[in-house]
Amino acid sequence: MSTALIILAAGKGTRMNSDLPKVLHPIAQAPMLAHAMRAGRALDPDQTVIVAGHEAEAVTAAVAEIDDDAQVVLQTEQLGTAHAVDQARAALDGFEGDVVVLYGDTPFLQSETLERMVAARAEADLVILGFEAADPARYGRLVMDGASLERIVEYKDASDTERSIKFCNSGLLACDAKLLFELIAKVGNQNASGEYYLTDVVELARADGRSVTAIACDESETLGVNSRADLARADAVFQTRARAELLDLGVTLMAPETVYLSLDTVIGRDAVIEPNVVFGPGVTVESGALIRAFSHLEGCHVGSGAKVGPYARLRPGTELAENTHIGNFVEIKNAEIAEGAKVNHLSYIGDASVGTKTNIGAGTITCNYDGVMKHHTEIGANAFIGSNTMFIAPVKVGNEAVTATGTVVTKDIEDGALSMSRTPQVNKPGRAQKLMDILRAKKARRDGGKT
Ligand code: UD1
Ligand code: MG
Repeated sequence: MSTALIILAAGKGTRMNSDLPKVLHPIAQAPMLAHAMRAGRALDPDQTVIVAGHEAEAVTAAVAEIDDDAQVVLQTEQLGTAHAVDQARAALDGFEGDVVVLYGDTPFLQSETLERMVAARAEADLVILGFEAADPARYGRLVMDGASLERIVEYKDASDTERSIKFCNSGLLACDAKLLFELIAKVGNQNASGEYYLTDVVELARADGRSVTAIACDESETLGVNSRADLARADAVFQTRARAELLDLGVTLMAPETVYLSLDTVIGRDAVIEPNVVFGPGVTVESGALIRAFSHLEGCHVGSGAKVGPYARLRPGTELAENTHIGNFVEIKNAEIAEGAKVNHLSYIGDASVGTKTNIGAGTITCNYDGVMKHHTEIGANAFIGSNTMFIAPVKVGNEAVTATGTVVTKDIEDGALSMSRTPQVNKPGRAQKLMDILRAKKARRDGGKT
């Protein structure tokens, strides 16, 4: 059976009080919309259609980054959820199979729930996802007729008896594509909000002699985000779940509640993560690696057995091979560090490659930026880089080369060479005291006798 997803994401999200459209606010460093799209991917959809409206350009750009097969359609005026779904009609022209409608601002939906909805289609023409609400507030209420769903009534249009129902509408549904668009064409806007309600398809389907059912999911899955406070809560919920999943996968988190994860963080078995580590987007850590306290990682790959931190910063494009050591106050960006190489103290390695087993001394810097362009530094294998070496890129250093402490490397160094650039040291006996006397006299003149 083919499946298509329609994700509604045209709403403004007024209560976010933001220039950024609601669905692009991040949870775990990924737009809320990416969470919904990820859940939907479990259905292996043939087509994914995102309905954008408010700040559609920004939404379109974000969608292209998340899944370049997804299509974006425009809803220029937000006339209601049925009207929003209707905007996908042309994009799904000729599509045969089931459509699953979900919201871009409901990030916690589980893939299994979507799978259950599609499975329930075997028994009913239209499947609605509901949940038992602890506080049903302003959700639409599901009016059941035994096992089948009679209708959905929006809070604003509901009687007191209907408002006492706790089984609520999540907004998600699954239906044959052709039938759904037929029903939507019949939806009107004669209601308390003057909007085209998607929920009206239930009654229309029944009038057409179709079977309609509702299945339930846990309320936590339908948690929507409407404000910054909701956003913070949603991030916290994500973190708790993601940490628990890592622990289950055999990752040691020494203080789980202090580790911040991104939606796409991947950490292998037997890796150890010390307290207060931040994983930004795009990080993969292989098995058995150790990430020590207060390290910050994004867009990087850490090979197995590597040791990182404490207080290390790995920026995008960092590739650490197996058994590398990156120590305290080291920043690495767009650089490959080959197997067994070490950068242990106070260094910046950017736009560079460092060969196998090379040792980079404390305070070494690749001077990669001349103020206009970025340049590359290539360091060979088994090299020994003395402390405080400056590499003025572009520059190449051969295998087994050695640089003396304090060397400013402006020219390539051949294999096995010792490179040294230092001002010769001069010691002047007894001159320390004289120098101090001169300086104190100068200060006294400047201050005009005052101390
Ligand atoms: C909707 C449901 C309600 C359900 C609730 C669950 C309807 C009529 N009501 O109400 O039964 O309990 O969700 O959260 O469907 N959107 C568009 N274009 C529009 C209108 C909405 O894209 O013209 C999008 C919004 O961005 C949002 C979603 O659809 O992602 C739901 O819209 P919202 O206004 O939040 O609907 P509710 O009033 O909460
Ligand atoms: Mg809502």
